[in-house]
Amino acid sequence: MNLLEIKNLSLFKDGRPILNNLSMDIWAGHVHAIIGPNGAGKSTLANTIMGLSGYRDFEGDILFEGESIAPLSVDERARRGITLLFQEPARFEGLGVSQFILAGAKGASQALAEESLAKVGLAPAKYLTRAVDKTLSGGERKRIELASIWAMKPRLVLMDEPDSGVDIDSVNYIFAIIKELQQAGSTVVLITHSPEVLRHADHAFLICAGTLVDKGEMSRMFEYFNGKCIPCVHVGQPVVDIDAQTLTSA
Ligand SMILES: Nc1ncnc2c1ncn2[C@@H]1O[C@H](COP(=O)(O)OP(=O)(O)OP(=O)(O)O)[C@@H](O)[C@H]1O
Ligand SMILES: [Mg+2]
Repeated sequence: MNLLEIKNLSLFKDGRPILNNLSMDIWAGHVHAIIGPNGAGKSTLANTIMGLSGYRDFEGDILFEGESIAPLSVDERARRGITLLFQEPARFEGLGVSQFILAGAKGASQALAEESLAKVGLAPAKYLTRAVDKTLSGGERKRIELASIWAMKPRLVLMDEPDSGVDIDSVNYIFAIIKELQQAGSTVVLITHSPEVLRHADHAFLICAGTLVDKGEMSRMFEYFNGKCIPCVHVGQPVVDIDAQTLTSA
């Protein structure tokens, strides 16, 4: 069953297609990966699904549980159960850590906030009294964002580079959270450059220059990381120099 359907999605910035006629089905209960080089359009796609400002004006459609979410605001999409872990966390500057974690959670309680922090390896006693602001390190902030998503148990979670800025020992917390979210019925979309993180996906989409180049089981899509970026023939070429037409005909 498709939880999310992206239909012929195109998004232009400065007259240039950042997303180019993308169609993708996100299956309920799966862990999908979106892979592709820097500047391919992965974050833009996540921001567009979430409905962030600057990403509302697109061609095509996005269906969630069979209904178009194109007219819905970010808050309305969040209420439907869609959430985004940002590549660069930015939400709710200044909120207390506890309030932040429980903001989208059902049955909010101090115990849930504590459990959520423990899930990402942060000592509740040390962090619950802190605020989500610039005094947190980048990795701490990322882990608190992950804790809030674990507490939320969203229907669909888009994770944009969940491992960026997180130290090697702590990535295991990310893996555990992905697994627990899936077990709790969430559908996960992972955007990452890390093969370790991608091992937790079962299906992947390869995007290059805003165009869907390949899709399939993660085991086969791993070839992309082994220097066989097939059928994309543009490895190492700056994305700005790639003509979308040559991608679709590659
Ligand atoms: N508001 C904007 N105005 C102009 N160009 C933009 C805008 N937003 C994104 N872009 C461009 O769109 C392209 C895709 O950017 P995006 O952030 O989606 O890439 P990405 O695949 O997430 O890359 P990375 O792996 O580096 O995070 C880039 O070339 C970027 O510069
Ligand atoms: Mg990105």
